Amino acid sequence: MSDERSRILIAGLGYIGLPTAALIARNQIKVSGFDINEHVVNTVNRGEIHIVEPGLGDLVQHVVSNGYLKASTEPGKADVFMIAVPTPFTKNNEPDISFVEEVTRRFIPFLEEGNLFIIESTCPVGTTEKMTRLIFSERPELEGKIYIAYCPERVLPGKVIDELENNDRVIGGIDQASSDIAAKFYALFVRGELHRTNAKTAEMCKLTENSARDVSIAFANELSIICDKAGINIWELIYLANKHPRINILQPGVGVGGHCIAVDPWFIVSEFPLESKIIRTAREINNYKPLWVMDRIKSVILRYVELHGRKPRVALMGLAFKPDIDDLRESPALYIANEMLHFDKAEVFYVEPNLPSDSSKLADFRSVLPVNEAYAVADIVVFLVAHREFRQLEIDDRKIELDFCGVRNSLKA
Ligand SMILES: NC(=O)c1ccc[n+]([C@@H]2O[C@H](COP(=O)([O-])OP(=O)(O)OC[C@H]3O[C@@H](n4cnc5c(N)ncnc54)[C@H](O)[C@@H]3O)[C@@H](O)[C@H]2O)c1
Repeated sequence: MSDERSRILIAGLGYIGLPTAALIARNQIKVSGFDINEHVVNTVNRGEIHIVEPGLGDLVQHVVSNGYLKASTEPGKADVFMIAVPTPFTKNNEPDISFVEEVTRRFIPFLEEGNLFIIESTCPVGTTEKMTRLIFSERPELEGKIYIAYCPERVLPGKVIDELENNDRVIGGIDQASSDIAAKFYALFVRGELHRTNAKTAEMCKLTENSARDVSIAFANELSIICDKAGINIWELIYLANKHPRINILQPGVGVGGHCIAVDPWFIVSEFPLESKIIRTAREINNYKPLWVMDRIKSVILRYVELHGRKPRVALMGLAFKPDIDDLRESPALYIANEMLHFDKAEVFYVEPNLPSDSSKLADFRSVLPVNEAYAVADIVVFLVAHREFRQLEIDDRKIELDFCGVRNSLKA
């Protein structure tokens, strides 16, 4: 970083850090981005972006060319230090906050009296207090002289710029002064309401939001399995139940994916294993759903082989973790597709209309086909994700269709 002091320093120029940096810079505030990935830093400094997000390219180009945003592989001095690095979970479903800790350690030498230190990464409860202890153990002279807060992000990919600016924010300081100073900072670029609380509550609030979604989806997924056994159309059932003025059941699917809802509830479960029974069970139900779907697909295929004496051609429709996106992270449909690679009783075609067929993300699958072609050649069509392209397919009664995501359901509450 140059000697010139930037007012804001943001660590982690990914899906959250880069739009946040650009939005702040748009308000003519000098922002530096710190990222360990040289490719990311060079791309941003050229005024370009390395992720897909509508509107972000133009914004970054604008603020970089105006000199309000620059990136570096080294941190430096600032007034506000912000952390937006990943917080993945380990194989044992435990949160990994090592990236947050590493950045905190990198920031510590640069902290000065009056600075504001903010964590935006999704974190287990107590992380902000832990980082506070780390800072003051290394720099005891700063105790009571800097402001520290946790301010989680709740944006929807695809609408990040709009949501960053307009969503309400929860701001949890380690003390009242930290909450107040952090709220004043966010007021510079956020139009949504700023709700002040303490750090622990803010941390738990983020985890609660995603756990609430997970539990609601688990309820729909459990119902779908019960209805299958009972011979009841789940889509009609939910449509009718949602006619009750105070009921709003979500739609079932093949599981839960993505890097938030499928991950964050574990941050609560791992810390409060005895107390978090519903949250854990919801995770287990949603993780079980793709196995159940897998079982159903295989049994239909085996019945086909028995009846026709040959392997069926099977089209697996959709690999992303939710409709109308190209994101495969933690995708249950992708898990099913990978499992089918090892099942030799069918000739399988893979379909993901949101990715080009030569995408490196699809490298594992030999037979990637466009939507219409796959539907035309298939004996069995399996809808895994309700992409809009699938809804437009005309039904061919000669095909066996397995609809796990409501593509063929025209009943919407
Ligand atoms: N993406 C979302 O929609 C979303 C929504 C809400 C919350 N979050 C949370 O925000 C945080 C960031 O997520 P993301 O999706 O932006 O991640 P990301 O993977 O897109 O970006 C993270 C960036 O941090 C950089 N990085 C990693 N370690 C670093 C280090 N030690 N020092 C400096 N830079 C480092 C990486 O190179 C990368 O560019 C996570 O905690 C995530 O759970 C994400």
